[in-house]
Amino acid sequence: MATAASTTSAAVFASRLLRRSPRLLRRLSVSRAPPAALASSSGRPLPPLARHPLGHRARMGHTAAAAAAAAEPALGLTKPNAVEPPQVTFSAKDVEFSEYKGDILAVAVTEKDLSKDADSKFENAVLKKLDGQLGGLLSEAAAEEDFTGKTGQSVVLRLAGQGFKRVGLIGLGQNAPSTASASRGLGESVASVAKAAQASTAAIVLASPSEIQEEFKLTAAAAIASGTVLGLYEDSRYKSESKKVHLKQVDIIGLGSGAEVDQKLKYANDLSSGVIFGRELVNSPANVLTPAVLAEEASKIASTYSDVFTATILDVEKCKELKMGSYLGVAAASANPPHFIHLCYKPTDGNVKRTLAIVGKGLTFDSGGYNIKTGPGCSIELMKFDMGGSAAVFGAAKALGQIKPPGVEVHFIVAACENMISGTGMRPGDIVTASNGKTIEVNNTDAEGRLTLADALVYACNQGVEKIIDLATLTGACVIALGPSIAGVFTPSDELAKEVTAASEVSGEKFWRLPLEESYWESMKSGVADMVNTGGRQGGSITAALFLKQFVDEKVQWMHIDMAGPVWNDKKRAATGFGVSTLVEWVLKNSSS
Ligand code: BES
Ligand code: MN
Ligand code: ZN
Repeated sequence: MATAASTTSAAVFASRLLRRSPRLLRRLSVSRAPPAALASSSGRPLPPLARHPLGHRARMGHTAAAAAAAAEPALGLTKPNAVEPPQVTFSAKDVEFSEYKGDILAVAVTEKDLSKDADSKFENAVLKKLDGQLGGLLSEAAAEEDFTGKTGQSVVLRLAGQGFKRVGLIGLGQNAPSTASASRGLGESVASVAKAAQASTAAIVLASPSEIQEEFKLTAAAAIASGTVLGLYEDSRYKSESKKVHLKQVDIIGLGSGAEVDQKLKYANDLSSGVIFGRELVNSPANVLTPAVLAEEASKIASTYSDVFTATILDVEKCKELKMGSYLGVAAASANPPHFIHLCYKPTDGNVKRTLAIVGKGLTFDSGGYNIKTGPGCSIELMKFDMGGSAAVFGAAKALGQIKPPGVEVHFIVAACENMISGTGMRPGDIVTASNGKTIEVNNTDAEGRLTLADALVYACNQGVEKIIDLATLTGACVIALGPSIAGVFTPSDELAKEVTAASEVSGEKFWRLPLEESYWESMKSGVADMVNTGGRQGGSITAALFLKQFVDEKVQWMHIDMAGPVWNDKKRAATGFGVSTLVEWVLKNSSS
């Protein structure tokens, strides 16, 4: 059953062979059996864990092709360091904050909380008590440092003779957090003061906990926790020296305690690890994260959570058999072969009420092809982020592998490849044929994402799913329309739009629905084929969405998310992990938990 070479020596052997005979690659990389088949065919246990190119510990190549890619040093000899993401334990407690023992007590205050009475004493009970305990130090410091409680402001004092080494005031602005994103922001601020103080333990308390609605407390606690972890995280895998994260234990005081909130905090940690994984995939440069390595990373998720996942990776030959001419056209110029990736999540008890698919654009690099990206603002040097959709897909898969929701089956689908330039590549004007038989005149090789998604969407529909969401860094036009932090949403289904809106309210990620204006299809007509792949500058995100719609079964509820803006944080010069949280929430809403 096992067709894969799964030992390190086999990987080295395969890479040697490949250097002599690249054609062997095609024969060696076969479509893959589920992870159960990853054990060696002799039935012997798998070899010890080996270092993976992306820095985590992983089993070496499950197929010879992936093994070869993993064994071969990356172009430029870059090898990411193995840096453990932050591991923070969160505990929700209903205890007296003034008795906290630890490195920093972070007090979240609104502007109102800082008001003082006639004797220049804090009116707020928490601040009054703390100020008394500290002999008036808190009110002095707040005044001297001009701390007014605005969002983003903070003051930290080093203390002596207290249970806590430091007290920090964290500004919340006018109101206590009432949304997930505000709560997450609080967590991020706590992370930044904890980092600066090199604290390994911290407690978070709100000066006015009663301002948080009872039914929002669980969500607030979880969002504070994930904000803290995500705020702590800095991707240093590609730096020669990495920074150490000190924070290990965080107590959240006053938002409840007990099994329900503990479960929410575990959920926050699982979710954050998915977001971090998504960020790492996007941050990885295209010389390291090739389609083969992306497939390897996906397989690793399947083998880590093998109780719920199976992985199938299709090589070029298999994709040809499935007639994925549109996807293979895009991949044709690259020396790094395409890998079509399909993970399937099934709940442990096998009971399935809903079947979903999440499809991600997986361009590990987008040069534009013959319509090469040139000129100012084209951002060619950032086009490693063109697999941001697939990073959201696999980040969600990783989180769900830990959360294990019941009652829902989810297919995670990515047609991974690279859009390059070479004599074997697709020319402007070529006609490609997608796996549903439709023909496409490629009037612009830089509109490649939709060509890969076309075959991925046909494949997703063939899995017999009820709902599909695709995510893609699809158009620069969407960034012009909505700016850098809002994703565009396109769907004919009001029901699906509602579901995702509800999910986004919990995740704090921003989406805006745009119209699928059918009359604009006019510009996508071809004289020789069924359609062209681009329709001019006007309404570029809409025509791209209309193009995708040609490849989706009408019976299936479908949504397209254009995340070209929010995939990347220009200020931080790093990936955001956008999409992961909303996808996980959406899957949970479709589960029977
Ligand atoms: N990956 C790009 C879209 C993109 C551009 C994302 C800038 C983030 C920032 C996509 O493949 C692309 O090149 N789209 C073209 C489409 C055009 C040729 C119709 C674009 O947006 O310019
Ligand atoms: Mn492009
Ligand atoms: Zn692209």
